[in-house]
Amino acid sequence: MKRWNGVAAVVAASAFVSICLLTARPAAQIPGERPKLTQHINQADIEAGRYSLADLFFAGKFLFETSFNRLDGFGRPGATGDGNPTRRNPDQPFMTRVSGPEANSCAGCHNKPEVGGSGDFVANVFVLGQLADPVQMSIDPLFSNERNTVGMHGSGAIEMLAREMTAELHRIRERTREEAIKSGRFVTHDLIAKGVYFGKITCSPSGDVDTSQVEGVDPDLIIKPFHQKGVVVSVRQFTVNAYNHHHGLQAVERFGVERTGTRDFDGDGVEDELSVGDITAATLFQVALGNPTRVMPSDLASRARVQRGERLFEEIGCARCHIPALILDNPIYSEPNPYNPPGNLRPEDVSRPFTFDLTRDGPGPHLERTKDGRAIVRAYTDLKRHKIADDEDPFFNNERLIQGGVATDVFITRKLWDVGNSEPYGHRGDLSTIGEAIMHHAGEARPERNRFMALSPQDQTAIVDFLKTLQVVPSPRTSLFFR
Ligand code: HEC
Ligand code: HEC
Repeated sequence: MKRWNGVAAVVAASAFVSICLLTARPAAQIPGERPKLTQHINQADIEAGRYSLADLFFAGKFLFETSFNRLDGFGRPGATGDGNPTRRNPDQPFMTRVSGPEANSCAGCHNKPEVGGSGDFVANVFVLGQLADPVQMSIDPLFSNERNTVGMHGSGAIEMLAREMTAELHRIRERTREEAIKSGRFVTHDLIAKGVYFGKITCSPSGDVDTSQVEGVDPDLIIKPFHQKGVVVSVRQFTVNAYNHHHGLQAVERFGVERTGTRDFDGDGVEDELSVGDITAATLFQVALGNPTRVMPSDLASRARVQRGERLFEEIGCARCHIPALILDNPIYSEPNPYNPPGNLRPEDVSRPFTFDLTRDGPGPHLERTKDGRAIVRAYTDLKRHKIADDEDPFFNNERLIQGGVATDVFITRKLWDVGNSEPYGHRGDLSTIGEAIMHHAGEARPERNRFMALSPQDQTAIVDFLKTLQVVPSPRTSLFFR
């Protein structure tokens, strides 16, 4: 009797163990299935110079376009899609369109006109829905902000512009504080970076900083160029968020044992899903993608119209926010970004950053180089946030949830350098033409919008035709080897 009891206990115990294994690693039970990611990139090898940019670009491209599976750690039964590691009840649907995971690869959404680019309306993301526990099934605007997929061509230049502008704003803050302390008086200075006005800053004789007159940027004066809301510092930070949000793949630098006390925060049975080096490669793929460029019509009449449209775009004031060219003082991209928040690799974590020249390296098109070694970034943005809706036309104020403390009618000036082939338009992607997007400008852009509406049909056509020449042109070298 005793013996049988023992056997029953063993049987029960092994059944329990196999049930645990089954829930932990369900796909592991299926013979023949293997992870897509068979090896990880070691950050120390990157720092030791063992990889070229091309090596890391193609490793990153693989990480960006691979449809991951459960053996890679796809899915996050025990974690929400929040960038701040947050647990959720594991007995919830495995994938949901709203809360995510909702896609098998980054390229599932970012694929126009090539991998890394923008996306169709069908690839929209229900931003902030990923924070929900229990998971959210409704696409009602009460529960998430629906956004269209933005492309990453030129993101390296954008990130470097933002870093230089941040450094400039921080220097002004430091100077203001020093002058106030030295003089024993209140001192106020304009905050201007690369010619863009970000309001004023005041310091007291005791060194206290008053940021109540700062505009278009957070009080920390860190330019956050990513997300259409302008709330994310770097491509790396976005990438770590996106892998967890969209695919349930958790990066060690955010979700690993040092920050969460476990190697498997999302409880799917796979430990250390993405290494620091994997995230570096995925980031380098995106920031080294070719920059958007100009596709000019071949006949003379159309060219003349485009050139007139380009002049008119400046004359009626569109260029006040969509600045045609900003100068990058140092064209060397370096990874990681010094303004990364904790939970993302930072320069102090590496023995040396990975660098490359935005005017020479990568698949191209590259940034134009000036005679004095700087670079021209023709992105048509000021990297500043603006109120873009008003009572007369609330179209762009269609979201209900506040993201990153930014009001619902405020967005960062959309880069226009890819506008010719990044349809659909508007942050929600619910506009099918450039003309509709212009017509719906309101709030701070109302004067320019009204000037546009007052132009003759020929002049309006010229502006739209000019904007259509700004495009991402797929580089044959994105899929081949390059220097
Ligand atoms: C389900 C569709 C979808 C998937 C999958 C997806 N993205 Fe995105 N991505 C978006 C959308 C939509 C935006 C714009 C978000 C916004 O403005 O709020 C975006 C924006 C970005 C941006 C910022 C671009 C900018 O200029 O502001 C980066 C970087 C990015 N994604 C990287 C990734 C990476 C890396 C992956 C894979 C780990 C990924 N995305 C997967 C839809 C997606
Ligand atoms: C006050 C700053 C400001 C001014 C002035 C301005 N814009 Fe914009 N523009 C924005 C912002 C912010 C967005 C993003 C709107 C959104 O989707 O929420 C935008 C978006 C756009 C888009 C949509 C791009 C896309 O990919 O979805 C186009 C096209 C555009 N602007 C053209 C123009 C033209 C033409 C003018 C001049 C008549 C102009 N803008 C003036 C700030 C401005």
